[in-house]
Amino acid sequence: MTKAAAVPSQHQVAHEDLRDLLRDFEAMREVARVENADPHLEIAALAETLTMRFPGEEPALLFDRIKDFPAGFRILSGASNSFRRLAHIYGLPTPEKKIDIVTSFKARMAKTPGLIPPKIVSTGPILENIQRDDEVDIFKFPIPFVHEHDGGRYIGTEDLVIMRDPDSDWINVGTYRIVAHAKNEVGVWISPGKHGRLIREKYFARSKPCPVLISCGQDPILFLCSNAELPLAVSELDYAGGQRGRAVEVVLSELHKLPMPAGAEIVLEGEMCGDHLKLEGPFGEFMGYYASEASEQPVIRIRRVYHRNDPIITLAIPSRPPSNFTLARAVVKAAMIWDEMEKAGIPGIAGVWNHEAGAGRLFNVVSIRQMYAGHARQAGTLAATCRSGVYAGRFVVVVDEDIDPSSIHDVIWAMSTRCDPAENIEIIHKLWSTPLDPLLTEPPYQSNRAVIDACRPWERRGDFPRVAESSPELKDHVMKKWSHLFRT
Ligand SMILES: Cc1cc2nc3c(=O)[nH]c(=O)nc-3n(C[C@H](O)[C@H](O)[C@H](O)COP(=O)(O)O)c2cc1C
Repeated sequence: MTKAAAVPSQHQVAHEDLRDLLRDFEAMREVARVENADPHLEIAALAETLTMRFPGEEPALLFDRIKDFPAGFRILSGASNSFRRLAHIYGLPTPEKKIDIVTSFKARMAKTPGLIPPKIVSTGPILENIQRDDEVDIFKFPIPFVHEHDGGRYIGTEDLVIMRDPDSDWINVGTYRIVAHAKNEVGVWISPGKHGRLIREKYFARSKPCPVLISCGQDPILFLCSNAELPLAVSELDYAGGQRGRAVEVVLSELHKLPMPAGAEIVLEGEMCGDHLKLEGPFGEFMGYYASEASEQPVIRIRRVYHRNDPIITLAIPSRPPSNFTLARAVVKAAMIWDEMEKAGIPGIAGVWNHEAGAGRLFNVVSIRQMYAGHARQAGTLAATCRSGVYAGRFVVVVDEDIDPSSIHDVIWAMSTRCDPAENIEIIHKLWSTPLDPLLTEPPYQSNRAVIDACRPWERRGDFPRVAESSPELKDHVMKKWSHLFRT
């Protein structure tokens, strides 16, 4: 990735903001409207149950006429969680197989300029309504209570938390959960080592308040960039510009002149201080557990609320996977790991997939065309330690190119038949993890990784037993001859 000035891009996504996408999703029959749902538990439970039942094939859910709230104050769940919607969001071809979208996304990453800085504009729909100082009341919005054992209502789940590094012009954007404490107070939980935490610690070390913007609803492409693991000092807004093929339009906030997407739905502005803390959590998290207790976390005092007419909160539901964002995360993360590995000089990569059952982080598979002795271990070790793959991982499996990394049947077959556990599992100790890992009980939250080499052993590649399976030609022949049996 290069830090570039605005460079004309070779592609452009078609939509400008979430409203454009919703119109497209309606036309594609990819969104279902739901009325009269309760933001207390019911909305999240419905979305979660649909995802569990039809993972990756469920419609996005647009909740309106939410219990106790005016019509128009809406919640959207799962915007990017189908292959068709995800491909549309990125302007990529609709995939036939899971791995196709990773391949096309990764191919585009290799071609397009990495970064296009945002364009500052003087106004935008986000300024349609502004609450200032004493007018601030975030409970005007239908803030969901997600799971029964959560410690509060979370206004930020599929969100953007925007901060400025006090020592440079770097604007960081991360997705961090935001709990509603009071009408003008929210709390944030940021995992150790994340950029937002490093930035706020710089302010706190100087006894200064840390300015922050929180976008609680926006174009999913911004959300997907916000939770992409980019290198330090690279702005996710610039990265999102590269992904869109044109700059993200931003307006500067009134108090801190921080950039907010002009087409965002709801943005909160305030500051947090190192000595103003409140209990935050617990919150059901992405590995599928309540792994950490409630803890004292910084409070953000909200002094401005900007929102569009008929605003939409975007809702991610971390839970026992698959959840309503894991498909998009699996695709994006797989493409980023693949891109990073290739740029680090690993040849012969045929595919990468991060399985949703591992929440898109814990069980990642790389398939390679083995080219030299040691190739498989090198690929696995790098996939486990590269920037996009290192945080909160557990298993990396390396398979041969005849294995589809996104097919769990293929992967388990390869592990079961080509991997001798005594010889082919390497353990890497003490890598970056998080209090959200149920196996970790105390700081410094480091976890071990297994790199499982499930490729045919290099020294036996010439005489490894033949696979017992009909040839592609023979399969094609019978599928054509008895095609009625293969219709789905
Ligand atoms: C739905 C969702 C919720 C997330 N919530 C949090 C969170 O509460 N705290 C956190 O540290 N990371 C959270 N993450 C992960 C970060 O957004 C991700 O690691 C991102 O790269 C962090 O940005 P940074 O590298 O600029 O700090 C979440 C990711 C997703 C997809």
